[in-house]
Amino acid sequence: MARQASSWILLLVLMNTPVGNGQSVEMDPEISGFVGSTVELSCRFLNSKNPVKISQVTWQKFFNGTKQNVAIANPALGVSLLPAFKDRVTFKHLSMSQTDSSLEDTTIVLSNLRLSDEAAYICEYTTFPAGNRENMVNLTVYARPTTHMTLTTPIIIARAQKHKMTVATCLSANGKPPSVIKWDTKLKGQATFQETRNPNGTVTIRSNYEIVPSRESHRQKLTCIVTYNSEHFSDSVILNVQYEPEVKIEGFDGNWYLDRQDVKLTCEADANPAVTGYHWKLSNGSLPKNVEIRNNTLLFKGPVTYDFSGTYICDATNSIGTRSGLVEVNVTEFPNHVIHRVDNGQEQPISSAAIWGGVVSGVVVLIIGVVLLIYFLRRRQRTFKGDYSTKKHVYGNGYSKAGSVPAHPTVPKNLQYPDDSDDEKKATQISGPGAFEGTERDFDGNSEDLKRPYFTVDEGESHDYDERTLAFQYEPESEIADDMVSQTDGSVISKKEWYV
Ligand SMILES: *[C@@H]1O[C@H](CO)[C@@H](O)[C@H](O)[C@H]1NC(C)=O
Ligand SMILES: *[C@@H]1O[C@H](CO)[C@@H](O)[C@H](O)[C@H]1NC(C)=O
Ligand SMILES: *[C@@H]1O[C@H](CO)[C@@H](O)[C@H](O)[C@H]1NC(C)=O
Ligand SMILES: *[C@@H]1O[C@H](CO)[C@@H](O)[C@H](O)[C@H]1NC(C)=O
Ligand SMILES: *[C@@H]1O[C@H](CO)[C@@H](O)[C@H](O)[C@H]1NC(C)=O
Ligand SMILES: *[C@@H]1O[C@H](CO)[C@@H](O)[C@H](O)[C@H]1NC(C)=O
Repeated sequence: MARQASSWILLLVLMNTPVGNGQSVEMDPEISGFVGSTVELSCRFLNSKNPVKISQVTWQKFFNGTKQNVAIANPALGVSLLPAFKDRVTFKHLSMSQTDSSLEDTTIVLSNLRLSDEAAYICEYTTFPAGNRENMVNLTVYARPTTHMTLTTPIIIARAQKHKMTVATCLSANGKPPSVIKWDTKLKGQATFQETRNPNGTVTIRSNYEIVPSRESHRQKLTCIVTYNSEHFSDSVILNVQYEPEVKIEGFDGNWYLDRQDVKLTCEADANPAVTGYHWKLSNGSLPKNVEIRNNTLLFKGPVTYDFSGTYICDATNSIGTRSGLVEVNVTEFPNHVIHRVDNGQEQPISSAAIWGGVVSGVVVLIIGVVLLIYFLRRRQRTFKGDYSTKKHVYGNGYSKAGSVPAHPTVPKNLQYPDDSDDEKKATQISGPGAFEGTERDFDGNSEDLKRPYFTVDEGESHDYDERTLAFQYEPESEIADDMVSQTDGSVISKKEWYV
């Protein structure tokens, strides 16, 4: 039961229909309109019981605690509109003259809405015998703001002393309810907001956008977005920022060598407004005789000479100011090929190609060496007679000096003679650790080779090429001389061993 009752109350509240012994007055829960528009304030008498007599209907405006009559309808006397509302209020279903018409629906139409119309409106039925029945509607009046953005000055000047300035103002005037202003831009800056409440209930929002004007802010877009009642308005400006020239000198590639032709320097300036004049000078002395100044370009006539060296300065001037760029030119005797080459504006080490070429040719040489080694090994296996006492030549692998092509086929590393031969022991000791230290700098870091810097081979086989090989072997003459004795046939024996 309680639940049913509460449902009823809820329904009645929703319909804004106060209950009174079966008679009620039905109105809209609320109504709103913009300034200048027309609204209908509906009012209907509902009667579910015995017929009652409607004696009079009175519309009242209720504002700031006071009630003011708006319109009265009487079944016998007709309709009366109070002077303040005479021009703008009409009964929707009743005419001024008509009497005896039904007063069941006393909806009024309010045109040309004003902000001052915002109030609560009461529709009151005077009946017999039931007494008074009334209801109320709140009328809200909205005012659409006028919105616009203005640039503070058409031209903004970026000064050297960087201070903040307002560049644009976004205004949303006399809105009700108030609008919200936001800024959309890539510019770095701050927005300030100011809110003014007008006596008529509207609100004016003003927002300034402040930046420190700079070269970077030129041509930037600044957009103001005003949100009013979930509607969005936006307005954009493109900034025109004037700044003094930003100067750099192009044309010197660090490679001005004697007799080079057609060199020039160009003064590149970024400026707003455009540069009106360029002035070239040399920091120490006067410009070389054979240069021609053509607007922002310095053309050097004839081949490069040492006279071209110096610090060149270009002054570029526009209406905002003058700024300089400078380049230090030095002239070299020869082209500067090794370090850098300018390629598509990017510097690339030229040496990388050379390195790769070197690597490739090194690999080719290595392959040839391996092939020859295999060939040599096969041949040797066929011809070796196994006479270990034959006099042996000793040669290190000095031939493997970096970058040099082996002068003869590589000897197999594993071709060690068995330890049972005295000669072999000597040979091993001769070239033991320390004996050839001086030659280490010639090795290209191959530790395998360092450990075994020599090979012994059959005399007959090595005959053809051992002389050349040994030339490398004995390079560090002085070091060998201390404890080595050269044999006439080119082999080496340690002095120690020799004298034992
Ligand atoms: C509301 O009423 C008070 C006093 O009753 C008055 O001082 C005030 O000005 C009124 N406000 C408006 C907006 O009429
Ligand atoms: C109408 O406005 C008055 C104050 O202006 C408020 O107290 C009341 O709740 C409002 N009624 C409705 C139905 O919004
Ligand atoms: C509200 O007041 C402001 C300033 O007093 C005025 O400019 C504006 O037109 C007024 N708005 C309306 C809708 O009367
Ligand atoms: C210019 O160069 C000359 C010679 O190098 C030097 O003696 C002189 O001091 C320089 N003058 C200036 C202003 O740099
Ligand atoms: C120099 O600049 C002016 C204007 O910018 C142009 O009319 C003239 O042709 C230029 N002169 C040369 C030699 O480039
Ligand atoms: C020439 O100038 C460049 C930089 O401008 C500098 O790196 C270079 O060392 C200079 N060479 C000589 C020979 O002064």
